[in-house]
Amino acid sequence: MYYVFFTGTAGSGKTTAVKEFRDYLLDQEMDVAVVNMDPAVETLPYTPDFDVRDYVDAREVMERFGLGPNSSLIVSIDLLLTKATDIKREVGEIESNYVLVDTPGQVELFAYRDTGRTFSSLLVGDSKSVNVFLMDSFIAREARSYVSLLLLSSSIRFKLGIPQVNVLSKVDLISDKELEKLLAWGEGEDLLDSLGVVDDYSFELVRTLIESLEVPPIPLSSTNREGFDKLYAEIQRILAGGEDFV
Ligand code: GTP
Repeated sequence: MYYVFFTGTAGSGKTTAVKEFRDYLLDQEMDVAVVNMDPAVETLPYTPDFDVRDYVDAREVMERFGLGPNSSLIVSIDLLLTKATDIKREVGEIESNYVLVDTPGQVELFAYRDTGRTFSSLLVGDSKSVNVFLMDSFIAREARSYVSLLLLSSSIRFKLGIPQVNVLSKVDLISDKELEKLLAWGEGEDLLDSLGVVDDYSFELVRTLIESLEVPPIPLSSTNREGFDKLYAEIQRILAGGEDFV
């Protein structure tokens, strides 16, 4: 069994990508299941095989403890750990080869609190896993935002400690020229020039970041499935050494 986590900033397209990527795999007769790990999501475009809201609902937590939306999400994610054994057992009943995991909207809550890491490793156990990190291309069009998203990506790669694939989500929303620019930046070209005048600290930081890029971010659109073949191939390369997940 292989686990594929989808993480990214709020609204970067995680839930839509999970649904469309699941459909894409199903179309190829792959054996795939979906886990929803977001206790605060209101509606989902797919029917999850496991839904964390059956255990903890952030809305209920908000009302019960009189909390605001952010703190109720923090408490909800922490509460999940208290139910970890039951959750692990239920997720363990999923027999699909390939499990896509939709994560909470605010990536910092899942990735930066220990609970996220503890919980994901508990869920995955000895299985292999990969994290797909979504960089919203509409935001990434601006050089400083692109660099900030890469820094966030590196930080999450470090925190979760599992292989990671970066994707540029929603590329159908940007022009061909903008995409060309983003692809060049992904190859380490022109990024420093696009930033204009930067101080020495930023210059060195960006240079190091470019050098540490393993694979350029993959352009992806959940609207027209652009990049899905490439994303699948990359996940497959990481998880199964190139073999299909059938
Ligand atoms: P949160 O969990 O709330 O943080 O959001 P999310 O990261 O799961 O994003 P979601 O899939 O809910 O998408 C946010 C918005 O972007 C929705 O209106 C989607 O329809 C839209 N969207 C997602 N992917 C794409 C895409 O590839 N192209 C376009 N044009 N819109 C997209």
